Amino acid sequence: MKNVLVTGGLGFIGSHTCVELLQRGYKVIAVDNLSNSEIQVKDRITKISRENIVFQQLDLVQKDEVKSFFEAHAIDSIIHFAASKAVGESVENPLHYYQNNLISLLNLLEASKAYSVNQFVFSSSCTVYGQPDKLPVTEDTPKKPAESPYGNTKQIGEEILEDFCRVNPTFKAISLRYFNPIGAHKSALIGELPLGVPNNLVPFITQTAAGIREKLNVFGGDYDTPDGTCIRDYIHVVDLALAHISALEYADRMEENYDFFNVGTGNGFSVLEVIKSFEKVSGVNLNYEIVDRRPGDIEKIYADTTKVNQKLGWKAKLGLDDMTHSAWEWQKTL
Ligand code: WQD
Repeated sequence: MKNVLVTGGLGFIGSHTCVELLQRGYKVIAVDNLSNSEIQVKDRITKISRENIVFQQLDLVQKDEVKSFFEAHAIDSIIHFAASKAVGESVENPLHYYQNNLISLLNLLEASKAYSVNQFVFSSSCTVYGQPDKLPVTEDTPKKPAESPYGNTKQIGEEILEDFCRVNPTFKAISLRYFNPIGAHKSALIGELPLGVPNNLVPFITQTAAGIREKLNVFGGDYDTPDGTCIRDYIHVVDLALAHISALEYADRMEENYDFFNVGTGNGFSVLEVIKSFEKVSGVNLNYEIVDRRPGDIEKIYADTTKVNQKLGWKAKLGLDDMTHSAWEWQKTL
């Protein structure tokens, strides 16, 4: 069975993907610099999967460290999650984002060439589309200039991969453009662990319900949507993890050596609909107030998932209530 390197393996999506890989018999080596994750997640992954996971703390920006890692480990495939991902923070600290997100990718690709790793799954994002003119977005929807350095690192990352694949025909890469990952594993042993005040909607909702935050500010109630609040394509993190398994399997049979896919549910939900779902599944009356729009937010986006359904044979199975319920079960353990 393949030896799979999972970078950012103790992070939110990384940890859920490690569980699914281990449960399917893959050998998993997880690396993480622990800048936005906690070491106890490693034992939680083992507890859920009942399989051993190899873990090494590693800063992928340090080229020598990356080289020594590949000298010590035989790797067949890489799933690359490790990146800084806070949109607002990237505006304040662009150099950190370009350094961390792009140099780590370049180091991994150089190592892949030197150590004959020929399969690479890249964590990309629907932010490459900006505010699409037409919905739902397909993979042919033109990319718009990134609205943040974070989004720019995803656009540039995809271009780096495409150029690398063009001159390395045996190397196969797949970019997965995530929509909005939320929720947690049904065991409530792993989930989202935002450091400090959450940027994202669902951890802010659950922390408000848990009394950690006083109230949720809903950013904007005057958008051109049915209830005036922004629409997103929320996807359960376990469905997203399973998309990575399907991508690894696709890498064994794909004809071209670079491809990219929207990974969403195909359904758009507004902020108020997410709140309503949460209140239904938790029985908690959420304290929220509609305030001004958040600069940089796009109005609405949701995916056309035809390509990923047909070529990878993957489709999201879990609905919004599953997502908000699992997020709440996880929050209650913290
Ligand atoms: C969702 C909606 C906010 C917080 C995320 C990731 C980004 C990318 C795409 C992967 C928006 C509203 C939020 C709050 C609110 N994913 N909101 N009050 O901005 O779509 O981006 O998904 O690459 O990395 O950040 O997600 O959860 O921040 O916002 O009203 O306190 O919730 O305005 O409409 P976003 P989000």
